[in-house]
Amino acid sequence: MQGKTVLITGADGGIGRNTTKGIAQKGARIIMACIDVDLAKPVLDEIIKETNNKDIEIMHLDLSSQSNIHKFAENFISKYSSLDVLINNAGVFSLKRFETEDGLERTIGINYFGHFLLTHLLLPVLEKSGEARIINVSSDSYKQSKFDLNNLQTEIKYTGMKAYTASKLALILFTQELAEQLKDKNTTVNTLHPGHVSTGIWNMWEHPKWYQTLIVKILNTFFISPEKGAETSIYLACSNDVKGTSGKYFSKKKPVRVSSKYNNIQTQKELWTISKYLTKLI
Ligand SMILES: NC(=O)c1ccc[n+]([C@@H]2O[C@H](COP(=O)([O-])OP(=O)(O)OC[C@H]3O[C@@H](n4cnc5c(N)ncnc54)[C@H](OP(=O)(O)O)[C@@H]3O)[C@@H](O)[C@H]2O)c1
Repeated sequence: MQGKTVLITGADGGIGRNTTKGIAQKGARIIMACIDVDLAKPVLDEIIKETNNKDIEIMHLDLSSQSNIHKFAENFISKYSSLDVLINNAGVFSLKRFETEDGLERTIGINYFGHFLLTHLLLPVLEKSGEARIINVSSDSYKQSKFDLNNLQTEIKYTGMKAYTASKLALILFTQELAEQLKDKNTTVNTLHPGHVSTGIWNMWEHPKWYQTLIVKILNTFFISPEKGAETSIYLACSNDVKGTSGKYFSKKKPVRVSSKYNNIQTQKELWTISKYLTKLI
């Protein structure tokens, strides 16, 4: 990865920080795109210390704000002339329904629409960077999605799971459609399930009661470590095995078939158009 530039969103979270560390160990230049620069700074210092790779920096990115995503992309493009790997890793899960400043339901707004917009704004720099790779961190929870294009904002009967699983299925449909559109280019796009990983995403209660803290503790004992959870992202970013592979969904570093129930080209195309409209790209 020497000489490659890698951008990772949510790079200071559980899976993100271990993905950053794993790729830093291979010598790439890394841009950690983080919402809270002060919180990310000690993570950056730790990764530099552990990997001896000093070519890592933090840039502020708030995926819940389309104006901030535009500002981030402009700053990035003015600073860097190439981008070899974009890892759309940041993600949230929320028991309560909130809206972003652009009026989108917050979970799908950050996990999917934010990354949809970011990817589009960075596509020109990715496309001119040779064999660039886009990696979307999804989840096998997509299988539980009752995906409804008429209720993408989960305005009707919000549950945290409904919003989260829709956002993760949307990332898979986005991957497939983008792969189709990039098929004559050098840029590839794949998606993945990292495993069930012990990270901060499961701290879903704002002011947890004792039994909620216990639930999270018990859940975490069954989950894999963030280091293990980063393995498929690192593999897709760095391995020669996946050179030229595009439009696939990976788990444990292997391509896995997306269930045909959710693998619908019509839905894929409709979601693409809606997403362009909601991110004001059309
Ligand atoms: N953990 C699992 O079992 C699991 C399973 C399947 C898929 N995933 C996926 O893996 C990815 C990484 O999650 P994780 O488990 O490592 O969770 P995490 O530790 O909570 O990390 C999530 C990261 O996203 C960042 N983030 C949140 N809102 C953001 C925003 N508006 N703009 C930019 N960044 C933002 C967080 O920053 P702050 O911490 O500063 O808010 C944090 O760095 C997510 O996409 C998640 O859906 C996780």
